[in-house]
Amino acid sequence: MNIEIYYHSKRGSTKIIAEEIASTLFKRALDVVESTPINEPLDMLFLGCSRYMNNLPKEMKNFIENINVNKVKACAIFSTSSNSKNALPLLKLALENRGLSVIDETFSCLGKGILFKKNHPDEEDKNNARNYAKRVISLYFSLAGEKDKEIIF
Ligand SMILES: Cc1cc2nc3c(=O)[nH]c(=O)nc-3n(C[C@H](O)[C@H](O)[C@H](O)COP(=O)(O)O)c2cc1C
Repeated sequence: MNIEIYYHSKRGSTKIIAEEIASTLFKRALDVVESTPINEPLDMLFLGCSRYMNNLPKEMKNFIENINVNKVKACAIFSTSSNSKNALPLLKLALENRGLSVIDETFSCLGKGILFKKNHPDEEDKNNARNYAKRVISLYFSLAGEKDKEIIF
């Protein structure tokens, strides 16, 4: 099974979550700013960022625009934010506008606040992120089990 975890993070909160997901899946989290466009076959693309000024960061928009969509089977999205208006709906829309399929299983938590909620993502958030990564992979296998018995993780 080919998986990659990409993120954008201005102040480090989403990076913390991306790294939890990545280590759970024995992978490294990749920063979209330092990465070349996706042009390799992927069974699952994990993609995460936060919401800035009610929008996706331009770096993430640019990364999504340059994905070779023929190579990616499905996307799993995650976000950190200062309130419940996270980046998930925006990420989903941007990916679906490119014809990519986004699974219903998502993750979000609070990011580092300036005046309060300073300690997020905390240990509970990290644990939830690890469980999220496992759920996505279980879901993938349960779906793939019916269609593709040759997948090896
Ligand atoms: C300039 C600025 C604009 C922000 N705009 C929003 C916003 O529109 N909605 C929101 O939920 N959070 C907003 N936030 C909070 C960040 O999304 C939140 O802190 C997030 O966890 C940061 O993640 P990152 O450090 O991984 O980029 C904003 C933060 C800053 C500094």
